[in-house]
Amino acid sequence: MDKKIITKFNDLKNKKLDIDITRGKPHASQLDLSNDLLTMDVDPYSGKVDLRNYGEPLGIKEARQLGSDLLSAPYENIITGEQSSLLLTYQMILAHYLFADPTPWKDVDNPKIICPVPGFDRHFRMLEDLGIGMLTVPLIEDGIDIIELQRLIQNNENIVGLLCVPRHSNPSGEVYSDGNLKQIFNLCKAHSENFLFVFDNAYLVHDFLPTKKQKPISKIAKEEGVVDMVAEVTSFSKVTFGGGGLSFMAAAGKNLSLIKKIRASMVICPDKINQKRHTQLFKDADDIKMHMEKHADLIRPQFDIVYKALDVLSADIGTYSRPTGGYFITFTSKKPIASRIVQLCKEAGVLITPAGATFPYGIDPNDNILRLAPTFVNHDELKEAMDVFVTAIQVAHLEASN
Ligand SMILES: Cc1ncc(COP(=O)(O)O)c(C=O)c1O
Repeated sequence: MDKKIITKFNDLKNKKLDIDITRGKPHASQLDLSNDLLTMDVDPYSGKVDLRNYGEPLGIKEARQLGSDLLSAPYENIITGEQSSLLLTYQMILAHYLFADPTPWKDVDNPKIICPVPGFDRHFRMLEDLGIGMLTVPLIEDGIDIIELQRLIQNNENIVGLLCVPRHSNPSGEVYSDGNLKQIFNLCKAHSENFLFVFDNAYLVHDFLPTKKQKPISKIAKEEGVVDMVAEVTSFSKVTFGGGGLSFMAAAGKNLSLIKKIRASMVICPDKINQKRHTQLFKDADDIKMHMEKHADLIRPQFDIVYKALDVLSADIGTYSRPTGGYFITFTSKKPIASRIVQLCKEAGVLITPAGATFPYGIDPNDNILRLAPTFVNHDELKEAMDVFVTAIQVAHLEASN
């Protein structure tokens, strides 16, 4: 058996594959769903506002209304920005770092942010940029592990915020329950009345299977009396075009003032023509829902290919997630072999997200979690990539047993 696996791996290496499944990018057929954006006539006016000129720093009326529908937050709390929600997140964090009231985070002694793991590498990177400490807390099916969160809060001072992906979490797919969100709000609020909750809802409308019901975050925040402590973002990067959609933020009170202040130093106004184009494509949240069903039909088979391949592995080698939406699957090996698996895949011409990328500073303490991004490549390429991935796991597992 051992010999058979090694021979198979060598045969795969001889195929000289060149497949990259490192990032969660939509497949070209998904992008085609929004091709009307490329050819449509755009009305350059919104009421009397000439969209070709500067103005409307918070976004055009129609786009803010769409954001308000999507995030179930009041219109006046919505900013529709450029094409990147990551940028809005960065701007909000930076605004707190420079200007937070009463104490900018730059003047706080060793400020820290709570980061559920595994998580999104670019979140960790922005916090590392600013020298903000990251306190990791594990995710469980229901959201954040509340017992661990409690422990973390008891044992640390100067925790200034929390940054998480509450729906189809990147990469392990958890959908936080309403109860979990309530507990998070209450525990963190008790730690500091200036706490900042950042919810990156990148996968808000990205279900591809029936998904657990979730009350809108803004509603739960209102019930728990924390509206002024919450910033929520989402975008159309995986709705229309990657890096060519629209971004949205819902924020209130001090947070809304801070984001307005920092953005006023950075951008005079967003691309309003693109905003208009998108609001001509989608009149309301229902239009978006229908559009996302088409994405789901394309994405589901990609995930099925991955499951079929991973199913041959027994649970004592590793387990994997089965999300109901989003863009990723995580594989968790029983042995600390994630880095070795990535290395073996590379030798056989398949690039996967580096081991450790889903943890702060790129360090997975158990070296056993890997992120798979199945959407970008064609079915045949994905099957070949998975053949390599599964064989690499078997080889690495064998090596670790010897
Ligand atoms: C959790 C999460 N947030 C943000 C982004 C990037 O979004 P945007 O293109 O709107 O900046 C991604 C993209 O992979 C993501 O997974």
